[in-house]
Amino acid sequence: MTKVPNVKLSDGNEMPIIGLGTYKSKPVEVLDAVKVAIDIGYRHFDCALTYQNENEVGQAIKEKIADGTVKREDIFVTSKLWSTYHRRAKVLECCNLSLKALGLDYLDLYLVHWPISYKEGSELYPVNEKGEVIIENVEFEEIWKGMEDCYEKGLVKTIGLSNFNSEQIKSILSICRIKPTVLQVECHPYLNQNELIEFCASHEIAVTAYSPLGAPGRSWAKPDEPSVMDDPRIKEIAEKHNKSPAQVLLRFNAQRGLSVIPKSVTEERIRSNFEIFDFELTIEEMDLITSFKENYRYCHLNWLKDVPNFPFNIEY
Ligand SMILES: NC(=O)c1ccc[n+]([C@@H]2O[C@H](COP(=O)([O-])OP(=O)(O)OC[C@H]3O[C@@H](n4cnc5c(N)ncnc54)[C@H](OP(=O)(O)O)[C@@H]3O)[C@@H](O)[C@H]2O)c1
Repeated sequence: MTKVPNVKLSDGNEMPIIGLGTYKSKPVEVLDAVKVAIDIGYRHFDCALTYQNENEVGQAIKEKIADGTVKREDIFVTSKLWSTYHRRAKVLECCNLSLKALGLDYLDLYLVHWPISYKEGSELYPVNEKGEVIIENVEFEEIWKGMEDCYEKGLVKTIGLSNFNSEQIKSILSICRIKPTVLQVECHPYLNQNELIEFCASHEIAVTAYSPLGAPGRSWAKPDEPSVMDDPRIKEIAEKHNKSPAQVLLRFNAQRGLSVIPKSVTEERIRSNFEIFDFELTIEEMDLITSFKENYRYCHLNWLKDVPNFPFNIEY
C-alpha cells in the first residue's frame, strides 16, 4: 500500500498530503466512501460541522479501527468551526459537537471555516424574511481565543484558518498566542493562489487545496463556466503521463507541497485520485500550469460579497 507523504506543520504536527473531502457527500454514501478510502490508504479526512455527515464519517473510522485496519493515531481528521459559533464560548461548543458526531476525543486539525460570522442560534444558515443570511459582528480576536481554548483543553492537536485572505491572516497573527498552522483555500490551476501560498510560506503556514478538481459537482454551477478538468493543456499533460486530468490536477498541487482533499463517493475515483505518487510532472509542466492566468474561483460566495469580512474582495 502507498504510504502517503506528510506535510510538516510549524508546530511539529504532520498532515498527510492527500485527504478525502466530504462536502456534499450524502450520509449513506460517505460511510462507504471513508471505509473504501481507508482500505486504499487514505489517512486524512476533511470534515465540517456544516457538512452534516460527521456521524457517518466517524462511524466509518470507528469500524476501520475496530477491524484492525488502522489505529486512531494513524488517521488525521480535520473539522471546522461553523460561522454561527464564533463567540468564544460557542467555539468550544461547536468543537465538542463535531467531536461527539465523529465519536473522537480529539481532532487533528480544527479550522475557522469562514471569516464571516452568522447570527448565533439553532440554524446553521439563519436568514431574514428576504432569505438573506443574517450576519453578526464578532471580532477575530474573540474567535481565535476560542480556537486557542480548544487547543489548550486538548480537544485539537493544531488550529488553522480557512477562506481567510492575507490581510485577515495578518490580523490573526497580530493577536494570536498560538499561531495558525494551516490555511485551507480553494486552489487548482484556474486559481493558482501563487501569492497567497508565498505569503503563507513566509509565515510558516501550510496550505491545503480545497476543490482541487474545480468542484465539478457544485450545485451553483452555471453552464458557461470554464472547467479546469477539461482544459486542453491539462489533458495533453495527462496523456503524456498516461494519467487522468484529475490526477494531474492533484499531482500539481501535491508536487508543490500543498495538501489536496479531493471529494468523491465513487470507489474508482477515490482510488484513482490516490494514485498520484507514481509519476512526476516535469519542471516545464509545473511552470506551465503555475502560469495559468484564469484566476477563476468556483466557490465564490458572490451573494455575500457586500458583507463585513467577505474574504475575496482583495487580490489575495
Ligand atoms: N474550507 C472550505 O470552505 C471548503 C470549501 C469547499 C470544499 N472544501 C473541502 O474540499 C473538498 C473538495 O472540494 P469539493 O468537494 O468542492 O470539490 P472537488 O474535490 O474539486 O470535486 C468533487 C467533485 O468531483 C467529482 N470527482 C472526484 N474525483 C473525480 C475524478 N477523478 N474524475 C471526475 N470527477 C471526479 C466528485 O464526484 P463523485 O463524488 O460523484 O465521485 C465531486 O462531484 C470538499 O469535499 C471539502 O471537504 C472545503
